[in-house]
Amino acid sequence: MSDSETCLISQAYSSDLFSAAAGHWKSLLTEHLQRLQAGNSKVLNWVPPDESIASAAQWMNAALAKQSDGPAEGVRKLIAQMLASGQNLHHPHYIGHQVPAAVPLAGLFDAVSSVTNQVMAIYEMGPWATAVEYALLGGLCRKVGWNDQHSSGLLTHGGSLANLTALLTARNVSIADSWKTGIPPGTTLVTNADVHYCVTRTAGILGLGAQNVARVPVDSRRRMDVAALERTLTELRNSGRAVMAVSACAGSTPTGAFDDLKGISEVCRRHGVWLHVDAAHGGALLFSRKHRHRLEGIAEADSIVWDAHKMLFVPALCTAVLYRNRAHRFETFQQDAPYLFDPSAPGMADIDSGMRTVECTKRATGFGLWGLWCLFGEELFEQLVDHTLGMTRHFYQLLLTESDFQTLHEPECNILAFRYLPSELRTASLERQNAFQREVRTRLIRSGEFYIVQTTLDGMAALRVTVMNPLTTTQDLQELLDSLKRAGQQVLGH
Ligand SMILES: Cc1ncc(COP(=O)(O)O)c(C=O)c1O
Repeated sequence: MSDSETCLISQAYSSDLFSAAAGHWKSLLTEHLQRLQAGNSKVLNWVPPDESIASAAQWMNAALAKQSDGPAEGVRKLIAQMLASGQNLHHPHYIGHQVPAAVPLAGLFDAVSSVTNQVMAIYEMGPWATAVEYALLGGLCRKVGWNDQHSSGLLTHGGSLANLTALLTARNVSIADSWKTGIPPGTTLVTNADVHYCVTRTAGILGLGAQNVARVPVDSRRRMDVAALERTLTELRNSGRAVMAVSACAGSTPTGAFDDLKGISEVCRRHGVWLHVDAAHGGALLFSRKHRHRLEGIAEADSIVWDAHKMLFVPALCTAVLYRNRAHRFETFQQDAPYLFDPSAPGMADIDSGMRTVECTKRATGFGLWGLWCLFGEELFEQLVDHTLGMTRHFYQLLLTESDFQTLHEPECNILAFRYLPSELRTASLERQNAFQREVRTRLIRSGEFYIVQTTLDGMAALRVTVMNPLTTTQDLQELLDSLKRAGQQVLGH
């Protein structure tokens, strides 16, 4: 190879260039955090998607490293562009989706892993990543109330993949030989009516057929109705249909409601059915002495999914799948991969993650969580949970004093759905009222003042907040109300 062929390679791998670029990285990110935390910017810098894509494509023609100001300056420009064009979760007015303003320090641990490319599948490729994952799984199992010698699990990329993994395990255990011979027609997945779509989607992926999901109605607190679950399981048994699993919610997506896990587990035990708990959002309450009672009965679950990139405030993605019975960890997949797994060292199969995960090469997802746990101890997670739930309750109480606002539930977690109905809309059609909620939200988020989201409950469109930034204050919440009123008046043409 000629010098000109290799000079970009030596530049790309230069530790001097890395050091100069990392200096820019550090100062730009620090300034960014300072600016956002002071509320000195828009929350979302809204740009229509086609403009964003065109701009990103244009940068790809820039060949910045060849420009006269050099590659480190090119890195600076690129990072500046990324920061200027993203969603600003660290702004205290970000009160939107269930994605947190992650603890910034957690990103530093993730960055070490990215730069050194620590991966998993086999222990040899990521020995410390594997050790960290195992230590975390032990810690999380103990929080559930399990003996970590008898339980087990894995980390994977997000709640959706985690629910799929856990429910595949449930299918293989509940329906004997299904991995090899398939499943009997009519096999059913039973869920809470407010279940996240990634759970019902597994019915299509796992071969049950999307129509074979029985959604159990919710009660007035939007929790799975336990008596209705009993009836559903009895009817399914009487009609000769196998049940793959019951999937309950600990922190439902629309309202953050917690199912009665104790009651549900008793029904499942009686019917001999696998109990899966989607605690992607609410698992973190197990760290809180004040709130962990919401998950009473979770230790009876056969499998649990718990997103650390939600209420444990680490960067996406980091999700635990946990199994009460340690033996179930090898029931998910049944395949040979002799080039990866050494039969002369069978003990390593328990350590090598690849036998138990959808991924072969797997990004080491646990460093952020592990780093925070080591630095601050469990108490940080308890404080994050208690504080964000406290702020949500404060907002709920604020709304109760406002006649133009209607809360749709009492918050059990850090999620609250509500409607804004100025007097002139109270007698309007549901359709008009629904359209108004959406128009107000769009106007609000495009202004960049706040970022909140929307949902639909029983046909009613609603505004929805999730307090996912622990730096959001009571004053910010008061300002949200004021901004909503302003946006509403503009929508109404006043
Ligand atoms: C209850 C629940 N389960 C699962 C998911 C999916 O998790 P992820 O977005 O990590 O795939 C979500 C996402 O918000 C959720 O709220």
